[in-house]
Amino acid sequence: MGVAFTLDGRAVDPPDDGGSLLETLRHRLGVRTTKDGCSPQGQCGCCTVWVDGTPRVACVTPLRRVAGRSVTTLEGLDASRRGAWAEAFSATGASQCGYCTPGIIMRLAGLEGAKRLDDASVASALVAHLCRCTGWQTILEAAQATSQLSDRPTGRDLEAAAWRATIEGGARQRVGPAIALGQGGFADDTAPPDALVAVPDGRGGWAVGDTLAEARTSAGKVQGRRSTVGLHHPLEIPPGGWDLSLRTTWVEPAYLETDASWCRPGGEPATALANGGAFGAKVGSGAPAAARRLADQLGRPVRVVLSREDVVRTGPKRPPVAAGAMADGSGIIRVARTPGIAAAVAGTAPGLVVEEVDVVGPPTSASIRGAGWGEAAVLVAAGAGLDDPSTPIRVTAPSGGQAEAWVGSDDRLQVRVSCGEPLDQVVLRSYCIGAAHMALGWVRSEGIAVDPATGVPHDLTIRSFGILGAREMPKVEVEIGDDGGPPVNGSDAVLVAVAAAVWVHDGLPVQWPTMAPARGRGAAT
Ligand code: FES
Repeated sequence: MGVAFTLDGRAVDPPDDGGSLLETLRHRLGVRTTKDGCSPQGQCGCCTVWVDGTPRVACVTPLRRVAGRSVTTLEGLDASRRGAWAEAFSATGASQCGYCTPGIIMRLAGLEGAKRLDDASVASALVAHLCRCTGWQTILEAAQATSQLSDRPTGRDLEAAAWRATIEGGARQRVGPAIALGQGGFADDTAPPDALVAVPDGRGGWAVGDTLAEARTSAGKVQGRRSTVGLHHPLEIPPGGWDLSLRTTWVEPAYLETDASWCRPGGEPATALANGGAFGAKVGSGAPAAARRLADQLGRPVRVVLSREDVVRTGPKRPPVAAGAMADGSGIIRVARTPGIAAAVAGTAPGLVVEEVDVVGPPTSASIRGAGWGEAAVLVAAGAGLDDPSTPIRVTAPSGGQAEAWVGSDDRLQVRVSCGEPLDQVVLRSYCIGAAHMALGWVRSEGIAVDPATGVPHDLTIRSFGILGAREMPKVEVEIGDDGGPPVNGSDAVLVAVAAAVWVHDGLPVQWPTMAPARGRGAAT
């Protein structure tokens, strides 16, 4: 039995396999612009389409519910409007990796014709979405710009823009309207349709099926949940009379595109980094090696896909720390044992003694943006400003990039960055705003609950990580300098400078995230 409906203006009749609209769109009908960031959690908005003109999250919409109805994806939007949205997102820097963007455009395009499209109403509409890269502000700007832009391309140097994005993101990245339209070359989008699908089986191996649904069923997929368990801070602050003390927990990198790859027998696997490297979090992804191994074993192309729950349970986290420091930058920083973390701290804060500690918990990685050196630099920079908390926080990153940050009126975040030739002001500004968003979440709201006995994360849904939504994000003002040097990464310095500035502004609370209980968790421990 098929389910007859209208897809982007054409009649389709795919078989009803009991699955979701998203699975059918992507894997039976070839609509790869509609993305899967957390299915079937229905929490990230990447898979937003219109059903009879109303935005719906396709991963929790059963296919059979759209029988006889009209489904519109980004590919079915009026071409000139679609082009205008893509130009607006590109022109404002509202799309970085681009994974969240097709769903966001569908949401915002649904508002067209509304009487008021002010920032507040756009931010309200974005409640159903998450973006890890941009920090929202540029998306609000894109929503305002779209009515004034045509779909004609501008004369902007997109190669230079891509160079800056690559420097900031830490992996090859393209920039332009096509990225906003979901064409970032993500591995799960480029896999051949006849590829077998492999998912983690929960026992260290892989469950393989003809379809994603079949593979997940045979793996006995763990359903995502958000626990009510409080955050657990596994390390104790070293004894001493410190000027500053800081204690953090595991932070989930929370990139929107889950790890994926595919490979033909004897071939090269597709990179899991796609359009950006998830700020270092996917550097060690095992998906490509697994795709190659399984394709060679099975003699068929194999597509490896991790679910959101797989990523949370097996992917690397930002390592927890507990530190005591003096205003002169001396002190002790304890950190969950992580290869490379001691060198990262020593390179930034030579006055801090590093004590690596074995803790029971999920894997950690020094590749994650600013891991180790970021916490150390926060302590040193905040300590340097103890005499006069009104002065801007200054941070120099290992890249040589420099940033100053302070919190202005209305919680407004002020940022100055200097990182060589800007190459493209739009992209650099977007990365700085995104870094400020990540910093604010890092200090105030982000963390995942981990079972102290087993080390297994309790929080498996993307909404449980504490990522700040559009309505929670203050304005960020970015001033870009040009020191005449070669271009280097600047947004990592912004991440750390803003984190330190927010921490100082908030009164240097010992434990991050500082506002976790207010976000509905139990008391932090
Ligand atoms: Fe939004 Fe990357 S651009 S998640």
